[in-house]
Parts: sequence; structure tokens; C-alpha cells
Amino acid sequence: MDKERRLIIAGNWKMNKTVAEALDLVNGIKREVASVKEVDIVVCPPFTALSEVSKAILNSNLRLGAQNMNENGYGAFTGEIAAGMLKEFSVRYVILGHSERRQCQKETDQLISKKALAAHGASLKPIVCVGETLAERDGGLTEKVLDTQVRGSLAGLSKAQMEETIIAYEPVWAIGTGKTATAAQAQEAHAFIRRLVGKLFDQNIARRARIQYGGSVKPSNARELMGLPDVDGALVGGASLDDRSFGEIVRNSI
Ligand code: PGA
Repeated sequence: MDKERRLIIAGNWKMNKTVAEALDLVNGIKREVASVKEVDIVVCPPFTALSEVSKAILNSNLRLGAQNMNENGYGAFTGEIAAGMLKEFSVRYVILGHSERRQCQKETDQLISKKALAAHGASLKPIVCVGETLAERDGGLTEKVLDTQVRGSLAGLSKAQMEETIIAYEPVWAIGTGKTATAAQAQEAHAFIRRLVGKLFDQNIARRARIQYGGSVKPSNARELMGLPDVDGALVGGASLDDRSFGEIVRNSI
């Protein structure tokens, strides 16, 4: 694969796994991917397992991500988690604006951009999620939706911050449904997002920007998806809860 961008594959464990289960899973993943050097591999457990998973991956090729954070620093925000708290566990990445949060927590592009800025303020790399619903795709609105979400969620980022930002294209209709975007649909959306990053920042940044695909990624489709010219990794939900599947996805991507 002659991509100048290094692949980044992240497992989004969502609201799953007790601490004991998380340790079983991460130890299994460690074994599965022990020999992989070509890919950045990230696990994103729930907050409650960050501490133990962080210790378990010391001196390994796995990196730690969180699934969300608050846009403010410390203070009176009951139930929220600040970037500085994530840093305590050597978290390096944070998923922002996942479609489940856009839907259930009503997160807006404006809020997501505030979170992205706060993440950068703490030297965390945001994984900013965008993607259209089925109704939007069927209505011919995919590019319009992606345009709005990318512009809004990345608003205010400096060029230097954009260099440290990852975008995840996750068509909502492909998340947890077993339906994957076809190679053509994924490539088209990724190329569109990259062109937009070029317009909003500059061509060099666009060329280097890493754009993950997410939505029912599994061992059987990882090779084709990761081989697409503008796909630079994956954000994996369901299949990241099984060490063998996640390991196979990573190995099949090389
Ligand atoms: P999925 O989830 O792989 O289960 O479709 C992807 C995601 O929500 O990030």
C-alpha cells in the first residue's frame, strides 16, 4: 500500500465491559497484535476501565483513547469528565461527536468543536466523527451533511491542531447494522472530506489528514476498506469487543 499516511485503527468499546472484562479483552488484543508495527492501534474503553487498561498496555503497541469528554476544564459539571482527568491515565485520543452522542445527547457541531479545542488544549488527539443518516443519503444530502458537520466540528482549529486531528467518517446507517458502505461509497465520502479539509485548511494538511472509516467494519471487509486510497484506518465498534476479530481487522489491514 503506497499511502503516505499511517493507518490508525481504534476500537470503540462503547458502554461495554466491566473492569475485569476489559482486562481480559485488552490482554487478548495485546497478544493478537503484538507483532504489528505498521499501524497505530487504539483501544477506547469506558471511563471506568481506563485506569486498569492503561496499566495493562504499558510497554505495548496499544494506545489509549476515551469515548468522550467535557468541553470545560475542572468545575461544577456534575457527571462530566475533563480532559485533564483523562491525561492522568495516559489517554492520547478522544472520540468526539460520535453519532450516538449526536443522537442521544443532542451534541451539536458547535459543541463538538469546543470539545476538540479543549482536547487540543490538553494535548489529546480528537477523533471527530461525522456521517449521514439513511434518510439523508436517500435524499441525496450526504455531501451537504458532511460539509456542515466537518466545517462545524472543526471550526476554530488552527492548522497545527488540524494536523493532530483525526476524522472518522461513519455513515449512521452502517453503525451496528451489519451494513457496510460499499467501497465506492466509502471512497467517495472520504475523498469529499479530504477535499473539504484542503479548502478549510490547506492542501498539505489535507494530504496528511487521517480519515477513518467506521460502520460494521469486520475482519472480512477490513482489507478492502483499508485499501481504498482515501481511507486511513477504522473506528470499530462491535468487532472490537472480541480480541480475535479486532486482531484480525488490524492484521488484515496491513
Ligand atoms: P460498529 O460501530 O462497528 O459496531 O458498526 C462503529 C462505531 O460506532 O464507531
